[in-house]
Amino acid sequence: MKTMTNTPAQKDAERRPDPGTLLSVRDLTIEAGSKELSVRLVDHFSLDMAPGDRVALVGESGSGKSVTARAIMRLDPDFRLSGTVDFEGQDLLKLNEKQMVAVRGHKIGMVFQDPMGALNPLMTIGEQVMEPLRISGVSRAESERRAKSVLEELGVANAESRMKAYPHEFSGGMRQRVVLAMALISDPSLIIADEPTTALDVRVQEQVLTLMDKVSKERGLAVLLITHDLGTVAGFTDRVAVMYSGRKVDEASVDALFSNPAHPYTQGLLQAVPRIDQTVPRLLTIPGAPPHPLNRPTGCAFSPRCPFAFDLCLVESPELRPSPEGGVVACHLYGASGKDEGS
Ligand SMILES: Nc1ncnc2c1ncn2[C@@H]1O[C@H](COP(=O)(O)OP(=O)(O)O)[C@@H](O)[C@H]1O
Ligand code: SF4
Ligand SMILES: [Mg+2]
Repeated sequence: MKTMTNTPAQKDAERRPDPGTLLSVRDLTIEAGSKELSVRLVDHFSLDMAPGDRVALVGESGSGKSVTARAIMRLDPDFRLSGTVDFEGQDLLKLNEKQMVAVRGHKIGMVFQDPMGALNPLMTIGEQVMEPLRISGVSRAESERRAKSVLEELGVANAESRMKAYPHEFSGGMRQRVVLAMALISDPSLIIADEPTTALDVRVQEQVLTLMDKVSKERGLAVLLITHDLGTVAGFTDRVAVMYSGRKVDEASVDALFSNPAHPYTQGLLQAVPRIDQTVPRLLTIPGAPPHPLNRPTGCAFSPRCPFAFDLCLVESPELRPSPEGGVVACHLYGASGKDEGS
């Protein structure tokens, strides 16, 4: 039930997605645990993606990125979800499990951090890449043809013979290409990649990201890239959303975010990224650690770690508001009582 209110965050939440929007997450709230000890993991998270958009979801470990992705895909039956997740015109939160199976791995491809965990060690690479097609009734010959073609697209040499190999015969980078092939074979319109390169060494990370970049551009594929490392997003995404303690606290174009980060947390994350052209050194590191969801401070959840915190921050949680660089930011420095008032 919607309540009558005038706060910008709720006005934003009540706006319906544009007809050209591919994914529109509105006010997604995730609760876990028992009714007696319920914990809010994600609080009123909203995000829009147009077809072909490449968006990064960034934040330190524990900020709620993975549970957000898992909730969008409805992977955890124990989560209590509210809000809406409109994808290609239907609210995924209203679908039953059978309908979700038709979305997962078909219309939305998924790539997770650990490629070995995503692969069955006892099945050949070919069988696994073909599986989404075989499940939807595509013939074996056609499935084989498409598996070979997508593996070739991802730079797997001798694809036909390598389809007969098992996962342990592939390197980490090659395994992640296989997982990517499984995600791409059904020709999805969106890929959700959760820390897809974190388990790989730096050189292979670069190769896999370059490949994802190339393939997503060629296919006009939208990508939601989840990462704790702001350093990996600069060349890959158009837009960055920053999460802290279960909330989106900042969102901007990648250029605006790197050149003039609005939220003090984003400024802190950027300081941790080694860059030779850094021009706005405000924080050297972010002291402290993010709060546990059961133990969030009152007011702004970042206030114990924020060098700019002032009295309002300790009592009132900031709403998302338009930021000076054209994005949105949840920080009292940009609010009605903050320093930017009237500017
Ligand atoms: N199934 C679950 N039940 C309860 N808490 C969970 C569950 N999964 C994750 N969490 C908690 O939710 C918070 C966000 O986790 P996660 O989304 O994995 O963070 P991130 O991906 O940003 O590192 C963490 O505090 C984590 O401990
Ligand atoms: S609201 Fe206050 S404590 Fe939170 S980030 Fe902004 S200035 Fe820092
Ligand atoms: Mg995660």
